[in-house]
Amino acid sequence: MDLNLGGKAALVTGGSRGIGAAIAQELAREGVRVCLAARDRARLDEIADSIASISGSNRTAVIAGDLREPSAAKTAVDAAVNAFGRLDILVNNAGATKRADFFTLTEEDWQDGFALKFHGYVRTTRAAWPHLRESHGCIVNIVGVGSRAGSAEFTIGGSVNVALLNFTKAMADIGIKDGVRVNAINPGLIETERFGRNIERVSRLHGFDRQQAIAFLLSSHGTTRVGRPEEIGWLTAYLASDKADFIQGCVIDIDGGATRSL
Ligand SMILES: NC(=O)c1ccc[n+]([C@@H]2O[C@H](COP(=O)([O-])OP(=O)(O)OC[C@H]3O[C@@H](n4cnc5c(N)ncnc54)[C@H](OP(=O)(O)O)[C@@H]3O)[C@@H](O)[C@H]2O)c1
Repeated sequence: MDLNLGGKAALVTGGSRGIGAAIAQELAREGVRVCLAARDRARLDEIADSIASISGSNRTAVIAGDLREPSAAKTAVDAAVNAFGRLDILVNNAGATKRADFFTLTEEDWQDGFALKFHGYVRTTRAAWPHLRESHGCIVNIVGVGSRAGSAEFTIGGSVNVALLNFTKAMADIGIKDGVRVNAINPGLIETERFGRNIERVSRLHGFDRQQAIAFLLSSHGTTRVGRPEEIGWLTAYLASDKADFIQGCVIDIDGGATRSL
């Protein structure tokens, strides 16, 4: 299927590794010029280099900054627009909510989780909107199946994620009249560094080795395998394309069937 994405311009937050890097690489494979935002400049440059070898050109921009800072979202959007002269696709993905027993989580942990993933997504959306309205572009919010059900060790992430699903629907409502599509993807267990930290936590908690910890997580999710970052990249590219033109305000779980609820 030709997604007709060639020549479009995207900003991917959290594009220096994991799901964000895979999304950026997939968009680049489809001919999109990508701007990557995260804190670690060296890792951003590594992904930009990998994209240059995929797409055969140096069309990738990078912007290093902490997206918990109120001004960082606009700086990232401006970097993409300055590099490419337009913005068609915003992928909100940078998130790092802490997973732990509720009674050990601090005020700071809560502020931190909301600062990056909730307020960060809101601020990039606000800054990008005029450009997306002009280009009839779209937003893909990477949220998480933790939004679907409460879970004892995921109080921050679950709360942030469910707020983002409502935000996605609200912006999709505005987007109907402004010509901007806004959708969300809920990844399940995906093999990234964040997932690795979860494996280490489960191993520590239960005295498991890595394989046992993975088996434990799969069984508690009621599914059979861990997803790959590029699987989120493929879906994002589709959602960003004209082929998904009638998909608006949609939340798609990509989790190997872990989510049973409607
Ligand atoms: N992996 C999963 O199983 C899973 C499941 C459901 C949902 N998700 C969601 O998917 C998204 C990506 O997850 P992932 O697994 O790919 O995570 P990851 O491997 O930890 O990558 C996180 C990305 O966000 C960036 N980031 C972190 N803190 C930042 C900050 N303060 N400012 C700017 N950028 C920051 C990181 O780069 P720097 O550290 O260099 O800043 C990195 O590029 C997150 O929103 C996560 O909640 C993941």
